[in-house]
Amino acid sequence: MDDLFERIAPVQPSRETMADGAVLLRRAALPFEKDLLAALTGITAISPFRRMVTPGGYTMSVAMTNCGAAGWITDRTGYRYDRIDPQTGKPWPPMPDCFLELAVVAAADAGYPQFRPDACLVNRYEPGARLSLHQDKNERDLAHPIVSVSLGLPATFQFGGLKRNDPVRKFALKHGDVAVWGGPSRLFFHGVAELKDGDHETFGRMRINLTFRGAL
Ligand code: SIN
Ligand code: FE2
Repeated sequence: MDDLFERIAPVQPSRETMADGAVLLRRAALPFEKDLLAALTGITAISPFRRMVTPGGYTMSVAMTNCGAAGWITDRTGYRYDRIDPQTGKPWPPMPDCFLELAVVAAADAGYPQFRPDACLVNRYEPGARLSLHQDKNERDLAHPIVSVSLGLPATFQFGGLKRNDPVRKFALKHGDVAVWGGPSRLFFHGVAELKDGDHETFGRMRINLTFRGAL
């Protein structure tokens, strides 16, 4: 009976405001955990994680792959979305149903009921990896929000403003947390501080982040 209750008891997500148009839905991905993990294994079997090179020639510490109709890539020629994975020469793996469902439900909860992502960038952080402050601005229609799902080791998310040197607020992102930003904060600078070492019971020594976008 206890087991059954545990399985069907709804997870109680909690909501924090990060900025105008930006919310943090704590634990919102937990009910999807097992499905997300299985789907991730399927994605990386087709398009493995790789560390891409920035236009400036720097190899990123975060390893990336994608799923969906388009994937975000960077190389010496620039940042862009492409329907083809340059490493395999084939389309990115399709977006799994559980990915799509989670992104749509979270976006609706955050006030973006129209959101239907066509791209999901999958980021893998190992201890020491970080993502410097940047804007997500390669997407064609900035009316779509960004939905960002955190799994595995905790990280410090930095959320600033429209200008690179605007003050940055820090949020501890934990396993299952979903951040959504759009509208007035869609182009806010954000980044992830250097990942601290640890051992997550399901993901081990890593953090996985899924960011859903309307790219095309
Ligand atoms: C990103 O900005 O693409 C990733 C954010 C994160 O890993 O939380
Ligand atoms: Fe980003």
